[in-house]
Amino acid sequence: KIIILDFGSQYTQLIARRVREHNVYCEIHPYHHVPELDETVKGVILSGSPSSVRDENAPIPQLNHIIGKLPVLGVCYGAQYLAQSYGGVVEASDSREYGRANLEFVDNKSKLFLEVEDSSQVWMSHGDTIMQLPDGFEIIASTKDVKVAGYHVAEKNIYGIQFHPEVYHTIQGTQILYNFLIDICGCIQDWSPASFVESTIDSLKSQLGNDKVVLGLSGGVDSSVAAILLHRAIGNNLTCIFVDQGLLRKNEYENVLESYKHMGLNVIGVNAKDLFLGELKGVSDPETKRKIIGRLFIEVFDGEAKKIKDVKWLAQGTIYPDVIESVSVNGPSVTIKSHHNVGGLPEKMNLKVVEPLRLLFKDEVRRVGHEMKISPTILGRHPFPGPGLAIRILGDITPEKVTLLQEVDHIFIEGLKSNGLYDKVWQAGAMLLPVQSVGVMGDERTYESVVALRAVQSTDGMTADWVHLPYEFLSRISNEIINKVRGVNRVVYDISSKPPATIEWE
Ligand code: XMP
Repeated sequence: KIIILDFGSQYTQLIARRVREHNVYCEIHPYHHVPELDETVKGVILSGSPSSVRDENAPIPQLNHIIGKLPVLGVCYGAQYLAQSYGGVVEASDSREYGRANLEFVDNKSKLFLEVEDSSQVWMSHGDTIMQLPDGFEIIASTKDVKVAGYHVAEKNIYGIQFHPEVYHTIQGTQILYNFLIDICGCIQDWSPASFVESTIDSLKSQLGNDKVVLGLSGGVDSSVAAILLHRAIGNNLTCIFVDQGLLRKNEYENVLESYKHMGLNVIGVNAKDLFLGELKGVSDPETKRKIIGRLFIEVFDGEAKKIKDVKWLAQGTIYPDVIESVSVNGPSVTIKSHHNVGGLPEKMNLKVVEPLRLLFKDEVRRVGHEMKISPTILGRHPFPGPGLAIRILGDITPEKVTLLQEVDHIFIEGLKSNGLYDKVWQAGAMLLPVQSVGVMGDERTYESVVALRAVQSTDGMTADWVHLPYEFLSRISNEIINKVRGVNRVVYDISSKPPATIEWE
């Protein structure tokens, strides 16, 4: 495997995904917690950073046990740090260098740049530049503005590059990473969905033995893939619980339950609609809604789990981005995770936790799902928030409003599907607004609700842009909603990006 030391760059996870695209396993560790090395570690990559090596508080890693023993690739800050720490000079550039550049010189006999073309396009993003290299450092690439775009230290087996090989705009970045991973580090390309499935099932078998495990299914990709993996490992010692809080999409409870049973899972469906909607009655504040739903979910889930005799483990669909220890170079480390509805579950239940997906990125979860022949309709589902339609009904929630919004959402989502747009959108849904507006239907004046449609493009939900759905499509959907859903006389489309708007309206 490869160890990636993170100095807080926004691109660190992207480096990891690119490495894994070569079927090489890698882990991200914060620069100040360099892990112990064993013979499975074949090389180390140092990431970029928002800091400057000239800052007083610049992040400094402990590399004594690595340098000279394993190949090291420094990217951007990583390259500057290595150059400076051996006596080189790094200075602020006259102009900050962002964006495309072309290599003017590249030593394509260097192992790192094998097959790289002479004027290959690369992506720069830095405020500092290496002005002078220490002895023993040899320049292997330059651009017009950046003399030291790449260097090699033969004696120490170090490579440094100023540009970012992980971003799409570095056209031969994939090749450069391949050269580092395969030719320089000698990694074996054995990280594949099939090998993951096989080894995870083996290790789950030995970890869990004959113990009983309980898992909360949500209908989403992660919990579904986790369930199938566990089922393969321990069969019906796995019990899944799927709770209907009355805030799911139209027919979702029945459809999802059916498809899980079809896959052979041992699933208990719990209809807790009345409980949830009863406790939510009259509540308008979004955070209070979330808290009530979170608390009730834990109660209901715990109640069901207690009925399983001798259950020892709680399985969760946690994925790798949730467990990476994040590095913040401008203050204490922060974990970006505000929405974990079932956050309190393990503490409350006093069970051991098993998380079979904790090494995987989202796209890898999907690939593992494909490998296990889970249906594309489950693997391709848009994310859906745990509190469901509760946070899409602005203001207080009533069963009538839930039904109305389910109808609207159904028309929108089915419309996206039948027009081939569903898979082009990361997430879509409808919001019921707490205002009424005037309309006219036939000869009658109406005073009814407004719904907002939202469709966004994103990779992880942290940032998002609204999708430019075709006007023709929006026009047909708007007509259909107003004609078919009683109580709605106006449809609007949300054209805000995140930030500053969030994806959900509450
Ligand atoms: P926002 O609205 O924060 O949403 O831009 C980002 C992503 O998170 C989902 N979301 C939630 N998921 N519990 C969840 O499980 C929540 O309370 C919650 N709030 C928002 C949202 O659907 C989007 O995918």
